[in-house]
Amino acid sequence: MSKRWQAGRPVADPLVAVTRSKLPGRALEQLRKEARLRVWPHSERPDHAEIVALVQEADALVCQSSDRIDADLIAATSRLGIVSTVSVGFDHIDLAALDELGILATNTPGVLAESTADLTWALILAVARRLVEADHIVHDHAWVGDGYDLVPGIDVNGGTLGIIGFGSVGQAVARRAVGFGMQVLHHSRSGRPSELSTPVPLDELLRAADIVSLNVALNAETRGLIGERELRSMKPTAILVNTSRGAVIDQPALARALAGGWIYGAGLDVTAVEPVPANDPLLGLRNCVILPHVGSATVATRSRMAELAARNVIDALAGRLPAHVLNARPPD
Ligand code: 8YV
Repeated sequence: MSKRWQAGRPVADPLVAVTRSKLPGRALEQLRKEARLRVWPHSERPDHAEIVALVQEADALVCQSSDRIDADLIAATSRLGIVSTVSVGFDHIDLAALDELGILATNTPGVLAESTADLTWALILAVARRLVEADHIVHDHAWVGDGYDLVPGIDVNGGTLGIIGFGSVGQAVARRAVGFGMQVLHHSRSGRPSELSTPVPLDELLRAADIVSLNVALNAETRGLIGERELRSMKPTAILVNTSRGAVIDQPALARALAGGWIYGAGLDVTAVEPVPANDPLLGLRNCVILPHVGSATVATRSRMAELAARNVIDALAGRLPAHVLNARPPD
């Protein structure tokens, strides 16, 4: 079967489907110079069937980490040669289905680690110093005294930080720990030593850390990595922070851990289902700070991501292999 994308074969009069009504920075402008665009027209995100309808006759798709790009969607397309996600994570893309038809997949590495590490630290501090509760006291006009019991938190400085996953985000999180005078441990697949941190087995990290930060990619190995056993092995004063993917944590077990005081608190930028359903028990827990998946959400970083995703599409449509190909064996 001929491959949908072939090196050196530019696509004539290409059509690019975009799953959001806006892209940050100059990405749409850059794409419009090279292709016809079919941009999702609404501010609410499209559901799966709507993405299928949007992409059917397109030569390229620009999507996000919350769009499921599965075999059914791929099967509904006739010309699609590249899926370009505006994210570094790619657990939402069925790479095997793309490989079968010789369709490229690309992501946006190298531009969002620092912003995501900043947000990881924002969550660490928010949970440890109970910033959300403190802010509510002021905004709700409930600030009546200055007693010693006014939102006392726990110290971050001088403690032990345990980082699970030591790629670019994990390392950026570790660099920031220097200013807090922390000892840093990490657990990663490679187990490689680092000047920033000491590699340790997962169980040791969970037992020793005052703060555990999840910075792994979601895959078969990391799905459900933190469950009841792991949560029970953490210190009762420990904080768990997740800026990777919600499915890395067994969320019902986390709700039990937070309600039962097995750990002190959690800071989540990601959850198993996004947006979080209204009846999720985590929403009733004060010691859980939850953000709407905004790890990379600065104007500059999101612009760089979208422009990189546009560049990946433009290269692929011109028959050039894009810089950030995810396929294990890209078509040639
Ligand atoms: C968001 C992310 O998915 O890059 C990733 O993998 O999780 C985040 O950056 C992205 O900003 C929205 O698509």
